[in-house]
Amino acid sequence: MKRKSVRSAAVSLRVRLGRLTLQNPILVASGTFGYGAEYARLFDVDDLGGVVTKSISLKPRPGNPAPRIWETASGMLNAIGLQNTGVEEFLRSKMLFLKKLTRAKVIVNIIGERIGDYAQIARRLDGVPGIDGLELNLSCPNCERGGIEFGVNPRMTAEAVRRVRKATRLPVIAKLSPNVTDITAIARAAADGGADALSLINTLLALAVDPESWKPRIAPVTGGLSGPAVKPVALRMVWQVHRALPKMPLIGIGGIMRSEDVVEFLLCGASAVEIGTANYIRPTAAPEAVQGLARYLKRKGLRSPGALVGRIQTPARLRGIPKLVASRRSGSGR
Ligand SMILES: Cc1cc2nc3c(=O)[nH]c(=O)nc-3n(C[C@H](O)[C@H](O)[C@H](O)COP(=O)(O)O)c2cc1C
Repeated sequence: MKRKSVRSAAVSLRVRLGRLTLQNPILVASGTFGYGAEYARLFDVDDLGGVVTKSISLKPRPGNPAPRIWETASGMLNAIGLQNTGVEEFLRSKMLFLKKLTRAKVIVNIIGERIGDYAQIARRLDGVPGIDGLELNLSCPNCERGGIEFGVNPRMTAEAVRRVRKATRLPVIAKLSPNVTDITAIARAAADGGADALSLINTLLALAVDPESWKPRIAPVTGGLSGPAVKPVALRMVWQVHRALPKMPLIGIGGIMRSEDVVEFLLCGASAVEIGTANYIRPTAAPEAVQGLARYLKRKGLRSPGALVGRIQTPARLRGIPKLVASRRSGSGR
């Protein structure tokens, strides 16, 4: 009998992310892709693995005063201030485009100023046609706790996820803040709260100064750093969380510009990725990354992105994944 060559096998980009199945592992990140419709003139948004919306709050938020964006070396500092339409207007107007997507998943990113807000928005979005999952932006100041970000405290993280979990049947993705000492403690808390998947990272708290005027570059003084400058931090955190929670599906985010960056995140343990700042530089970065990943897999003789997940070749003493899991993984996608 003639043996089928592995190299000639067709590539499928399909990935599982907990309860979600994505046609490919490339999503676009919250706050960098509007509500999807803005990009429809440039390419077929339905070709993406998914669209993550701008963060939605209970009530509309005007955002921070300008200037609120500054370009840094290999990155971008932003302090938009979570400007958004609020959940009711989102459902009335922004879902009109999003509900037409049939292949790309629609993930609504939500924020709360109080822990109860997250659950209230989740309840409102539960059962809305066209919404496939929720992503919790935990990088929001908790008004009830002196403005400390939910995502820097394990107890607040677990509680926010637990409340949302109870309020909805939708898959719940907890988006982690990198502004912590031990990302694995926060990841475990989100898992304990019942998260279906974790996405990481949000922006890194940062500051830029004008040496002439001695003033901060952006009006709110500090902001969130994103773009290629943060990629090594994001990779390190994805790797650490994957080692700590090997069964938890992860979405890697941070500085992804092209398909090679996607591969790095998959190798570190992500099952999917979100592309953010790159959308501002090259609006077609995400569909190009989909094509680039398919070419990469073909060149390597791999049949699916799953064959890369967690396969970083670290020294044996650093491998946190039990042998059994590692060997089962390696067999699955080739
Ligand atoms: C201008 C801008 C606005 C953003 N707004 C949000 C937001 O509303 N909610 C959120 O969870 N993340 C937001 N983010 C963070 C991104 O989703 C992403 O986590 C981060 O930028 C890292 O990815 P990147 O380096 O590919 O941009 C924003 C990022 C930028 C640059």
